[in-house]
Amino acid sequence: MVELEEACFSYDGRPVLRDLSVTLEPGSFHFLTGPSGAGKTTFLKLLYLEHLPDSGSFTLFGDNPVEATRREITLLRRRIGVVFQDFRLLEHMTVAENIALPLRVAGRDPQGYANDVAELVRWVGLGQHMDALPRQLSAGEKQRTAIARAVINSPDLILADEPTGNVDPDMGGRILRLLIELNGLGKTVVVATHDLSLIRAARGTVGARILRLAGGTITQGAGEL
Ligand SMILES: Nc1ncnc2c1ncn2[C@@H]1O[C@H](COP(=O)(O)OP(=O)(O)O)[C@@H](O)[C@H]1O
Ligand SMILES: [Mg+2]
Repeated sequence: MVELEEACFSYDGRPVLRDLSVTLEPGSFHFLTGPSGAGKTTFLKLLYLEHLPDSGSFTLFGDNPVEATRREITLLRRRIGVVFQDFRLLEHMTVAENIALPLRVAGRDPQGYANDVAELVRWVGLGQHMDALPRQLSAGEKQRTAIARAVINSPDLILADEPTGNVDPDMGGRILRLLIELNGLGKTVVVATHDLSLIRAARGTVGARILRLAGGTITQGAGEL
């Protein structure tokens, strides 16, 4: 699914990731941990092709993104769902419209996906808030909207960057359960978090593995939690 070998990445000549080698198997669930500033967000940005490695090899869904055309990058990115810590919802659009956005952008017919959107809204527990605007939602509701938007396209890979960073522990548990359910449907999931209680909460429920990011590189835990 994803294979990086000796990948390096610098911001303006300042190395953030170095000699990073990691393999994510299809259907796996990973927590990405490490202190603030370690490069977790940067690593996720490599995975969703916002940045490309400066050196090293990179295989994503069997392709080499470093040599891909812009069109190919767009197609690869459609197979990835991203959940941002700060939600990134469009404020003038309703919950349902935000969730449907990836389908609209992909040029799909709104009549064809209305039912899928409604079903997903209910799955994340926002059936009552379908027509609400983001500013009318709590942080947990915003994050569940963001999760629904990330998965509406049925991506193969789901990346969540500190998805519980802005919600209380109960809601954090609920968000984690949604991500675990998605993994149960066969999706590969990577959750960046420095919240150890979240990781402990997953113990026994999912074959989660831990990627530890420190000193610009990842140590891949051999076993499960
Ligand atoms: N756009 C950027 N330009 C320059 N430096 C950046 C940029 N984004 C992040 N950094 C730096 O890269 C390092 C890793 O950041 P980040 O990936 O956000 O870490 P984490 O998500 O683990 O907190 C930090 O030192 C941060 O200041
Ligand atoms: Mg971060």
